[in-house]
Amino acid sequence: MLSNLAARDVETVIHPYTNLATLRDVGPLVIERGKGVMLYDSDGKAYIDSMAGLWCTALGYGNEELIEAASAQMRKLSFGHLFAFKSHDPGIELAEKLKEIAPLPVSKVFFCASGSEANDTQVKLVRYMNNALGRPKKKKFISRQKAYHGVTLAAASLCGLPHNHLDFDLPLEGFLHTACPHHYRFAEAGESEEAFATRLASDLEQLIDREGPDTIAAFIAEPVMGAGGVIVPPKSYYEKIAAVCTEHDIYMISDEVICGFGRLGTWFGMQAVNFKASGMSIAKQLSSAYLPIAAITVPETMYGALVDESRKLGTFGHGFTYGGHPVAAAVALKTLEIYQRDRIVEQTATKAPRFQARLRKLGEHPLVGEARGMGLVGGVELVADKKNKRNFDPKRGVGLRAVNFAQEEGVISRALGGDTLPICPPLVIDEGDLDEMFDRLTRALDRTHAWARSEALMA
Ligand SMILES: Cc1ncc(COP(=O)(O)O)c(C=O)c1O
Repeated sequence: MLSNLAARDVETVIHPYTNLATLRDVGPLVIERGKGVMLYDSDGKAYIDSMAGLWCTALGYGNEELIEAASAQMRKLSFGHLFAFKSHDPGIELAEKLKEIAPLPVSKVFFCASGSEANDTQVKLVRYMNNALGRPKKKKFISRQKAYHGVTLAAASLCGLPHNHLDFDLPLEGFLHTACPHHYRFAEAGESEEAFATRLASDLEQLIDREGPDTIAAFIAEPVMGAGGVIVPPKSYYEKIAAVCTEHDIYMISDEVICGFGRLGTWFGMQAVNFKASGMSIAKQLSSAYLPIAAITVPETMYGALVDESRKLGTFGHGFTYGGHPVAAAVALKTLEIYQRDRIVEQTATKAPRFQARLRKLGEHPLVGEARGMGLVGGVELVADKKNKRNFDPKRGVGLRAVNFAQEEGVISRALGGDTLPICPPLVIDEGDLDEMFDRLTRALDRTHAWARSEALMA
């Protein structure tokens, strides 16, 4: 029997990334409130949020300073936009702050409201730039198999996950995908991380040669891949990939939507995995997800091209009503102030060894093929056979079963494709909660293992 709220939900709401047929039978878990790293459902049951919402609530729930920043700005100017020669002080100050902390040259900042909008904007502005620069053929984008960059048409085309393309008639033309840098899954027997990275760079080079280097505009990558299964690149990967991009004058974009603002123990993900992009997309932890805000950074060459195009065409014809919303911008500014004042990024780096040690311990579990991660993010890949890395039949929903056991144990979790459970708690989690989260997840894995054996899904 579904609770009243759950039953009403099923009759009224379409849920993203949910099997909508199954939902009709099982209903949703209705979350009512949150405080710190804890969430509480409509029956009052408490959970540790091991996913920081959707990789975004860095400062946890119910932060009074952020609430105050939002309500003060709402009282002062509840809406403002940046269209048609208008501006507002939170937008200006946030752009200044982002220029100050960015790890790459930034001329200007363009605001949006979501990661998908940011990545769609990247595609449009790269096209615009290359038209302005007189190279109209240089328009194709390269991303990676298993990449996740959002759901709007261009962003979904950048994704390398089947569910983002199947029956949506995607990817659009001009979106190419190179190999996924997952050593555990795709390295050849005995191949070192370095040798694997060299092979991937050579794959990229071959793709570019096949397509024609003068047609390739940009390469986009998440420093550590998130929704594709928390995939940490092999050693030397980005140096080698960046060298290929530089050689062919390819605009390199770091999708920092998950990795930005401390997740990997550095301010930005590209610093943790060692590359310098031409531009980046940011969202999520930018405001600790208290309000939707996102942005892309624009280097001088791209800015110059936008100015030239505006002169030629009469206007820069792109922008979102809620891009740089003043209340969201005020909250983002306060979030960045807290990150700096409370040394949240440094603290994350300090917590990371304990987190990673507990994560690796899960790797010894009979159900876990690989436990991988960096900073305060990890992925636990469940397998039917540890020795030969055999996955479970996706139809058996083993990952989802583990999520349900985790929920019973008092942890909010999520299953990604390939039965991988991501672990990505709010950055402010303390040692006690961190240990408790891993204890509960271990119990959930034990129960999943017992269930999988009872169903004869594994030996
Ligand atoms: C790396 C990355 N890029 C882009 C997006 C899309 O962001 P949004 O859901 O805000 O559109 C996500 C969302 O999870 C993401 O993980």
